[in-house]
Amino acid sequence: MSYSIGFIGGGNMAGAIVKGLISGKVYDKSEIIVSVLRNESLDRIKTELGVDATLVNSEVAKMSKIVVLAVKPHFIVKVLEEIAHVLTEDHLVISIAAGITLDQMKPFTGKAKLFRAMPNTPAAVNAAMTSICSDIPQSDPITKTVFDIFSAIGKVEFITEAQIHAAIAVHGSSPAYAYMMMEAMGDAGVLLGLPRDQAYRMAAQSLFGAALMLLESGKHPGALKDQVTSPGGTTIVAVASLEEQGFRNAIIEAMRKCADKSKEMSS
Ligand SMILES: NC(=O)c1ccc[n+]([C@@H]2O[C@H](COP(=O)([O-])OP(=O)(O)OC[C@H]3O[C@@H](n4cnc5c(N)ncnc54)[C@H](OP(=O)(O)O)[C@@H]3O)[C@@H](O)[C@H]2O)c1
Repeated sequence: MSYSIGFIGGGNMAGAIVKGLISGKVYDKSEIIVSVLRNESLDRIKTELGVDATLVNSEVAKMSKIVVLAVKPHFIVKVLEEIAHVLTEDHLVISIAAGITLDQMKPFTGKAKLFRAMPNTPAAVNAAMTSICSDIPQSDPITKTVFDIFSAIGKVEFITEAQIHAAIAVHGSSPAYAYMMMEAMGDAGVLLGLPRDQAYRMAAQSLFGAALMLLESGKHPGALKDQVTSPGGTTIVAVASLEEQGFRNAIIEAMRKCADKSKEMSS
């Protein structure tokens, strides 16, 4: 094997993971290969990521024991058909494609070790949340390899495959909900007299800080909210208004619909 890890698909998500692996010193550039669909993408991969690139998917599987499937879900079966004959029990195959189940991939991956991983777009700034699932028990040492790959771009949680729809609602799609909230906060800031760019910076830093407080304090989010709300103060007025407008219920319902859509796409 000439490479440690190969990616089939070199788009946004593969690019973010490759950058994280290189900057986190998990793998050297020379240990990574990426395959893409279009000729013009070869130069982009070489220039932007500094790794080797090919148009032949089976070359990736031939030359690296770890194969990350990073093409759009509707290309996964086609790609698996191309690499199935090359895969051995020594291979580790990790699919990041949404909605493609382990059972759908197993007929092609044979005895290779198979995982699904669900990162999110903050991978681009090394702040991803990735959920990982597999039939392989967590005690198997191969799990550590998968954990280390995705730890290079952020945090990792192990889940069962049945929980993947919940994970997609909680962290796959949630950057969009957070952007909507920051956009609304920015509009409100402008309404109240702040310049827009300053309002966005303030909104983003506040949500970032609140998230860090939750992660680092280990406190219940309700307890942290209570700490900000003084009797008869400004924050409790805002909290009461959010409750009146069904803020929490809107989020719960949106996430339920998101998980339902994910289930529908997997069936
Ligand atoms: N974006 C997210 O938030 C997110 C989160 C979690 C999981 N995912 C999953 O990540 C996967 C990739 O998403 P993305 O956003 O990175 O997509 P993307 O930016 O559109 O990239 C897709 C890549 O696949 C390549 N490709 C297409 N067909 C191919 C083939 N037959 N053989 C080899 N390469 C092929 C494309 O090559 P060219 O460059 O030549 O066109 C491109 O580099 C999807 O399955 C998605 O479900 C995405």
